[in-house]
Amino acid sequence: MSAVLHGLGRFGLHLLRAWLDRPDGGIDIVAIQDAHHSLASAAALLQQDAKVSFADCRIAAEDGALRLDLPGRQPLRLAYWHGPAAGSPWLGRADWWLECSGDFASGEAARAFLRGRTRRVIVSATCPGADQTLVFGYNHEHFDRRAAVLSYGSCTVNAFVPLAAWLHARYGVAEAEVGVIHNVPPHRLAGHPHPVRRPCTLQTEGPRLLPFLAAERFHVDYVLIPYTGPSLIDFRFELARPAAAAALLDALQAACSTGPLRGLYALEAGTPSTAALALRPESAVLSRPLARLHGRRLVLPAGFDNENSAVRYLDLLEAVAQRGG
Ligand SMILES: NC(=O)c1ccc[n+]([C@@H]2O[C@H](COP(=O)([O-])OP(=O)(O)OC[C@H]3O[C@@H](n4cnc5c(N)ncnc54)[C@H](OP(=O)(O)O)[C@@H]3O)[C@@H](O)[C@H]2O)c1
Repeated sequence: MSAVLHGLGRFGLHLLRAWLDRPDGGIDIVAIQDAHHSLASAAALLQQDAKVSFADCRIAAEDGALRLDLPGRQPLRLAYWHGPAAGSPWLGRADWWLECSGDFASGEAARAFLRGRTRRVIVSATCPGADQTLVFGYNHEHFDRRAAVLSYGSCTVNAFVPLAAWLHARYGVAEAEVGVIHNVPPHRLAGHPHPVRRPCTLQTEGPRLLPFLAAERFHVDYVLIPYTGPSLIDFRFELARPAAAAALLDALQAACSTGPLRGLYALEAGTPSTAALALRPESAVLSRPLARLHGRRLVLPAGFDNENSAVRYLDLLEAVAQRGG
């Protein structure tokens, strides 16, 4: 499936890395489009980013393209366009438009990219008006080929929804709360000198995606903090039929290791430092020592590399491609 990547911000950069690591996933990124970075600045970003490493690639900007040489692979030439998306020569020239800029996160805005050969736009954020929101590991198998604008959810939606669905199927979720302490991208740090409470799209997307979760029985407390590392996310569930704490956590452990939550979550025997969560591919890394069950109330403290939620987006792209995308 040929695709144009729009947006080389934190999400786009993580996506590019994850995509390079999975050469056989059926997605062929042929061009990158970014309003902020020139080709030279994009090449420098790849060479110098403090977190996402492209040290295994030789990177060059040549003839309007990013050239990436990976050992043992054919050189990759990704055409590069610096400028507003509306003027991109790549409009309508690939099967998919990967909308990762953050600037077109509505169905109406995203539909502007459906032209020429481009039959699908996949938005890396909650997207009101999208034809479908598909959360990998929850409802990605419900992909409808008529859906032209897809949303992958968001980092918090992916962190919460499959876990809540799994808990509900076994123990019944009567209420839930999520506390998020979220980073900011390095280039926006100066504009965020203090922690600030913000609305989170999970607040509306959670009950919309999970029919058992009544909106009035769900709450998200989201705080953006002036810090650029991995983030924290704590889940609290009121369960209708809880098992004993050890049995419940053993079942969760098994689901994360070999069951339906495999690859999506980890339940760690210790509590990883927040820094150690950088580039972890799971949607949330739960800490067993911090987990607790008081009566019906289950508390699951976790951390996540929200930027690396791009791995879930790539999982979804590959799943959609396999279904004839
Ligand atoms: N970061 C996450 O944790 C995360 C997780 C899941 C989903 N998402 C979603 O993915 C989309 C993109 O998010 P993002 O985190 O990638 O945003 P971001 O890093 O702030 O990048 C967004 C845009 O900011 C501009 N930008 C990039 N680098 C810059 C720099 N060094 N200096 C100044 N401006 C720069 C770019 O274009 P412009 O100059 O044209 O703005 C870029 O497309 C959003 O819809 C977001 O909700 C993000």
